[in-house]
Amino acid sequence: MHLRDAVPSDADLLAELLLEAYNWTGQQRMGHAAMLADPHARRYLDGWMRPRDLGVVAVDGAAGSVDQPALGAAWLRTTTRDRPGYGYVADDVPELSMAVRAGRRGAGLGGALLAALLDRARASGTRAVSLSVEDGNDRARALYERHGFGVVGRTGGSDTMLLVLAR
Ligand SMILES: CC(C)(COP(=O)(O)OP(=O)(O)OC[C@H]1O[C@@H](n2cnc3c(N)ncnc32)[C@H](O)[C@@H]1OP(=O)(O)O)[C@@H](O)C(=O)NCCC(=O)NCCS
Repeated sequence: MHLRDAVPSDADLLAELLLEAYNWTGQQRMGHAAMLADPHARRYLDGWMRPRDLGVVAVDGAAGSVDQPALGAAWLRTTTRDRPGYGYVADDVPELSMAVRAGRRGAGLGGALLAALLDRARASGTRAVSLSVEDGNDRARALYERHGFGVVGRTGGSDTMLLVLAR
């Protein structure tokens, strides 16, 4: 496995992985077409990549190998107060989305993706990162807590978490 920066042609991959995040319970709570028709979901995908978007993709095989399947990704996107994401905190605080393909979870890929993305965010001067995690998604929550995220708010059945990178 190796990690690479996300690129504009990863838009379809991120849509697939966002669907995995919506369906984290393993049940098909949302379908692909419904997700692409959902204005809320589109906030994390539309126009990828915008100038402030940042992402990391985990790919099977050694760096430089071609046509290897992507195993997961973590990405950042800012939303605005008038069209906020689920984990919106401020216009200049991007929100994290991430997922690892179902058969590859629990082997450290999520941790590697998150660490690499946070490194890139710090390097690019991002002051903080937020996210939304649904009640019961304990694997994701454990990962976020281990990386220093703390709960700052609540929307519906989800907590909003924040990690301050720079003061
Ligand atoms: C959340 C997710 C991205 C984590 O990726 P991953 O590759 O499974 O993550 P890791 O293997 O690095 O493990 C993450 C944590 O889960 C723990 N874990 C591993 N296997 C587990 C299991 N079967 N049950 C519960 N926790 C488990 C690990 O110990 C680790 O905790 P730690 O960081 O405190 O040690 C991945 O599980 C996933 O794609 N889930 C579905 C989509 C989703 O929920 N996205 C996030 C929405 S907020």
